[in-house]
Amino acid sequence: MNKVPSVILALDVEDKDRARSILQATGDKLEWVKIGLQTYLRDGPDFVREVADSGKNVFLDLKLYDIPNTMEKALESLADLPIGMLTLHASAGPEALRRCAQFAEESMPNVLLLAVTVLTSMDQETLSSIGVDSSVDKQVNRLASLASGSGIGGIVCSPLELSQLRPLLPESVKLVTPGIRPSGSQTGDQRRIMTPAEARETGADYLVIGRPILAHEKPADALDGIQNELNQLTNG
Ligand code: C5P
Repeated sequence: MNKVPSVILALDVEDKDRARSILQATGDKLEWVKIGLQTYLRDGPDFVREVADSGKNVFLDLKLYDIPNTMEKALESLADLPIGMLTLHASAGPEALRRCAQFAEESMPNVLLLAVTVLTSMDQETLSSIGVDSSVDKQVNRLASLASGSGIGGIVCSPLELSQLRPLLPESVKLVTPGIRPSGSQTGDQRRIMTPAEARETGADYLVIGRPILAHEKPADALDGIQNELNQLTNG
């Protein structure tokens, strides 16, 4: 039986006050918060510190992509931030990935680097339009293997990629998946989705969930429901 994945709340909200009220409402049951580009560019490192000071682990989703030297320097700039996860693009290539993995190991020992492979907004046609001729699945596998082989400790993947990536990668590589919808909730613009229980059974280590919690009139109840669904597999 797979272990119970942790829920990461995607804190995609319009301003800091809303973020604060959601964090207060979800309380101690919530351990992880994802801060993405929208929030980081608006509210900056001080807000990351504020969220960390409130007792949460912060997943900083900046999806870095640049030349190897700039990627490493970007990590250097983030090294003092209290974060637990950080994303970069696997397609930045082996040297960038190796240098970031090495820098993180030496200077950010508490940060799990996560590689993004093919953005889920891209389909076969979009991939071809940028000159990538392999199938989406093959490209995902190739970039995930490249990232893992370069020392990156985790992969962000769609739930439907879990079953192809879990057997391909060492067990120590963490799989972090968005696109999760509790049974009966609105799917929004997510198309390739799984329920929390399905994602657990397929080998996810962390579930990134936003709107099903944010849009609920009682965010704490939504989180409770998800965590109960995940735990039921163990108890039942
Ligand atoms: O609201 P929802 O549960 O769809 O939020 C999912 C979060 O995960 C959002 O922050 C979204 O940007 C992010 N994400 C995603 N699909 C990916 C990568 C990230 O939905 N492939």
